[in-house]
Amino acid sequence: MSKMTDISWDEFSALSLADKRPYLARPEGDGMPYHTLFAQQFDRELLERLCALANRIRFINKSKEGALYLKNVLAHKRAMLYFSQPSSRTFLSHLAACQILGITTGEVRDAATSSEFKGESREDSIRTFSSYFDMIIMRSPEQGLAEKMAWELSNSSRPIPILNAGSGKDQHPTQALLDIYTLIRSFEKKGGVDGRTVVFCGDLKRGRTVRSLSYLLTNFRDVKQIFVAPDELQVPGDVTAILREKGVKYEVAGDLKAAVKVADAVYMTRIQDEWDNAKGESAKIDTSRFKFGAEELALLGKDGVIMHPLPRRDEIAVCCDRDPRAMYWRQMRNGMWIRAALIASVFGFEKSIMDCGY
Ligand code: CP
Repeated sequence: MSKMTDISWDEFSALSLADKRPYLARPEGDGMPYHTLFAQQFDRELLERLCALANRIRFINKSKEGALYLKNVLAHKRAMLYFSQPSSRTFLSHLAACQILGITTGEVRDAATSSEFKGESREDSIRTFSSYFDMIIMRSPEQGLAEKMAWELSNSSRPIPILNAGSGKDQHPTQALLDIYTLIRSFEKKGGVDGRTVVFCGDLKRGRTVRSLSYLLTNFRDVKQIFVAPDELQVPGDVTAILREKGVKYEVAGDLKAAVKVADAVYMTRIQDEWDNAKGESAKIDTSRFKFGAEELALLGKDGVIMHPLPRRDEIAVCCDRDPRAMYWRQMRNGMWIRAALIASVFGFEKSIMDCGY
């Protein structure tokens, strides 16, 4: 058993993501994460277990008796939602997931309302939250902060789990979980996710959801990934290096219409101009060919799905919203269920929920 208390921060941070995984798992040895930091912590077996648990929770929650049972599962726990970057879906779906499981929550969404305004470091803020809560769900513009805090808290007198709700341009593991859950549900009665072609389009360079989902898709057999973007915003080399290492088929392309014709799923993303180095930098890039509208809809196969982590701007035309292949609204709601499944699993309640009589 690899324990965070047995390894220094310098040694831990130097490990590959795959080698970090055992340090982040629950000590009980059921394979579920204790700290949830990046997509590399999830293999196919774990993904299928989490999706099965999410299905189970959404079913149990349909009846009043079932919902009350779920509300009691983690009624003895408190979670801190620490979001120092803007969010609608990730914040609210984690909040709703906590409410489903009976977890009491606290929140800081603007550092200006916390003692960070007085100069307290983010690290000290998180140590402070750990005094009052049993889990920290955090979004930060700082790449690597969640990982550092996971190590710090594991080596403190209040070791509590960290759940990464988006870290810089780096990773968004729970978004990738809900994306996989959506793909699994979309293709459940149509032969499954194996063998599918997934097209990513938009700002692939700075989109953390793309990095996390691209990795999770490597857990499925013969899934081809096509990356469609302007040259300036193409998929980063670290993502394609993993695909080459794992023998995954991929293409880097510039023609969305051609990609849609062969796609089973099209994953659109917005331009992430909040990461521009200079003001107006993204606005100079011609993104007009990287939008999904009526013409692309006509080219998509009848069983194809259109996804988006949201928020969108104009990269999916509103006219697509009523099409049964538009999955982005369902994707959002799926996020609540899979996050409830993950949180329940982090606290060791996977089996009892799966086996309960509801
Ligand atoms: N998909 C996503 O992370 O959305 P929010 O920024 O609204 O949380």
